[in-house]
Amino acid sequence: MKRIGVLTSGGDAPGMNACLRAVVLTAHANELEVIGFQRGFNGVVEQQYQTLSPYHVSGIIQNGGTVLKSARCAAMQTEEGLQQAAQNLHDLELDALLVIGGDGSFRGTLALAKYYKGQLIGVPGTIDNDVDGSDFSIGFATALDTALDAIDKVRDTADAFERIFLVEVMGRHTGYLAVAAGIAAGAEQIICPELASELNLDKIADHVEQARKHRGNCSYIIVIAETMYPGGASALAADLEQRGIECRASILGHIQRGGRPVGADRILATKLGAYAVEQLLQGAHLVMAGEINGQAGLYPLALTGDKKKQVDSYLLRWQQQIAQY
Ligand code: F6P
Repeated sequence: MKRIGVLTSGGDAPGMNACLRAVVLTAHANELEVIGFQRGFNGVVEQQYQTLSPYHVSGIIQNGGTVLKSARCAAMQTEEGLQQAAQNLHDLELDALLVIGGDGSFRGTLALAKYYKGQLIGVPGTIDNDVDGSDFSIGFATALDTALDAIDKVRDTADAFERIFLVEVMGRHTGYLAVAAGIAAGAEQIICPELASELNLDKIADHVEQARKHRGNCSYIIVIAETMYPGGASALAADLEQRGIECRASILGHIQRGGRPVGADRILATKLGAYAVEQLLQGAHLVMAGEINGQAGLYPLALTGDKKKQVDSYLLRWQQQIAQY
C-alpha cells in the first residue's frame, strides 16, 4: 500500500479535524501518501483534492468543522456518479479510501465498492451518534456539551420567569442527543423518537399541568428531538398555547454542530483515525473503525445502519418515572 484517500462527508461534527490529523500522521509514519478530497464525495467525483502532509494538519486538533469541508453528494446516488468516483480513485492510484461520516456516507461508501477495487474503511463522525458498531461517534460528546450549555442558560431565564420552555435538539431520526441532553440538563420531559408511540398532545399537556400542581409555578423544560412534532418545537408551543399552556420554543439547530471539540471527541477521533489507517495496512476492507467498551475494533460497514444501538433505556425510564417533575 502506497497511497490512501480521505474525506469528511455528511453533517460535519466537532472532532473531524482531530481525526484527519491522526489519519495523516499515522499514514506519514507508515510512509503512505494521503490525498484529501474536498466537500465529501463531491471532491472525488469532481476531482478536487490535495496532498495532505503533517504540515497541513498541524494546529487543527482543537478546531470544529473540517478543513476538508463536508457535504452530501447527490452524484453518489447514481450509477454514473459511482463509476466516475471509482474511475477517479483508480486514476489517482489510491489503494484505499477512508471515509469519516455517518450512516448516509457509509451507504455511499458501500455503493462505491461495486466499482472501486481498492480498500474502503469508515470512521463514525456524526453528532447524531446513530451509527451501529461504536458506542460513540466523533462529535456527539461536543454536541451534547453545546446543547447543555444552551439548556442551562434557558433554565436560568425559565426559572426567573417561571416559564415553560421547549428546547429542540438535533439528532435526525434518533434520540441520543435528546435523551442525553434531557437527562444531563434535568429536563422535566423528554420527547424523542424512541418514545414516539407515547407521544400525543394530551399527554404532553397533562404532564405540564401535573408538574405545576406538584410544584406550583416553576420553570419546566421539555427537550424535544427534531422531527418529533409536525412543524417542530414552535408548532408544538403554539398548540400548547391553544390549550392554555403558555410556553416558549428554543431551537438549538446548527450551533450543535460547531465549536471546539471537547477532550473526549479529540481522543476518540485520534484513536479511530490512527486505528483505521493501521487496519487498512492489515488489509481491512468494507469495515468501520469503532470503539466498544473502550476497545477499538472493526465492524462491518454494511451493518452500521441497522439501528441496533439503543438509547439508554434505564436512564430514560428513570427520568420518566422518578425525575419527571
Ligand atoms: O446528521 C447531522 C445533522 O446535524 C442532523 O442532526 C440533522 O438532522 C441534519 O444533520 C441537518 O442537516 P443539514 O445541515 O443539511 O440541515
